[in-house]
Amino acid sequence: MTRHFPVAVAIFLFFLFVVPIPTFAQQSSVSSGLALTPPMGWNTWNKFGCNVSDELVRGMADAMVKSGMKDAGYQYVVIDDCWQVSRDGNANIVSDSKRFPNGIKAVADYVHSLGLKFGIYSDAGMKTCAGRPGGLGHEYQDAVMYASWGVDYLKYDWCHTYKTQDAKASYANMRAALDASGRPIVLSICEWGTHQPWLWGEEVGGNLWRTTGDIQDRWGGKEKWPDGGCCSNGVLAILDEQAEIGSYAGPGHWNDPDMLEVGNGGMTTTEYRAHFSLWAILAAPLIAGNDLRSMTPEIRDILTNKEVIAVDQDPLGREGQRVSKDGDLEVWAKQLKDGSRAVLLLNRGSSPQEISATWEAIGYPAHLSAAVRDLWAHKDLGKFTEKFSASVESHGVVVVTVKP
Ligand code: GLA
Repeated sequence: MTRHFPVAVAIFLFFLFVVPIPTFAQQSSVSSGLALTPPMGWNTWNKFGCNVSDELVRGMADAMVKSGMKDAGYQYVVIDDCWQVSRDGNANIVSDSKRFPNGIKAVADYVHSLGLKFGIYSDAGMKTCAGRPGGLGHEYQDAVMYASWGVDYLKYDWCHTYKTQDAKASYANMRAALDASGRPIVLSICEWGTHQPWLWGEEVGGNLWRTTGDIQDRWGGKEKWPDGGCCSNGVLAILDEQAEIGSYAGPGHWNDPDMLEVGNGGMTTTEYRAHFSLWAILAAPLIAGNDLRSMTPEIRDILTNKEVIAVDQDPLGREGQRVSKDGDLEVWAKQLKDGSRAVLLLNRGSSPQEISATWEAIGYPAHLSAAVRDLWAHKDLGKFTEKFSASVESHGVVVVTVKP
């Protein structure tokens, strides 16, 4: 006994210090390093709703390449709700065989063959929002299936969950399931901001989390639905809900003010330019939701403005803040990695207005001389001290970088 004691101690110490004990943090190393800048891509929902198919997704992936969107940084092609119809005898999720005659993996393979990434949608409850089978109780089984199809991104919704279901625990469970599959998969938390996911989204390994209800293709604020229910969110309604939560975003974990409506027909070109610019200042995921196969040159130019996209994708990963508000006139500013600022002048009013961003408001001393560049005109405007002012059209923005 005494003779074996040192050996026993050595074995004990070996297991204590050398053999790693699995922890949540180690499991999540599979997905660490994902979404270091806000995810960019395209999703079926805003334009096509439940009308998803193999043909649609392949066509959109082709268009993403041909339109120059891939070159501009768009990467994920995501099928939202309605691809799934049932579970089989082994409880495996089954895709709609009429709409996806070759199965989901064939679509994913095609998307990958174009150098893009593939995403899919499910729900933390019994059913998805459109009433299709949800993931509750099948998290690990579904994650293995998704990984076998080559899924790179999962949007996980919150419909048909139990009243007592804990959001944080549910999303932590899905992250653990995805990691256990061994495939790095971006987790997009979609519980509409109901349980303040900005407070716990990063901790559970979420890469982005919706902060609001669904976006509608209109400019304005919150409005009641025709049946009196709350609420339809225009761009401004969503913007106002982002003002206080910017500090929770950073590399790998982003506030998600919902997908883009740019090009869907409900706003003017000026408003779409503003919508896109505001999402960039917010370091929001840029997930287009229009028909990429038939967009006008104006819409393509908005979605592929590389200077504005660079603001969104800046590696420092700071979300922009509203630094001044005077009625309808606002200034938003975002700190960039090279020490410069992206500055957005927003006119919510109904006539053109002059708006000024003071150096003091954006965090610079007034005497500093800084070079200003207009990111929509693609033009250097010269050096300025103290402030920059510009005339901004109704529902429009001017976006500049200010570089000391
Ligand atoms: C919810 C989500 C939307 C979309 C639909 C699909 O409303 O918030 O983004 O995914 O479900 O049914």
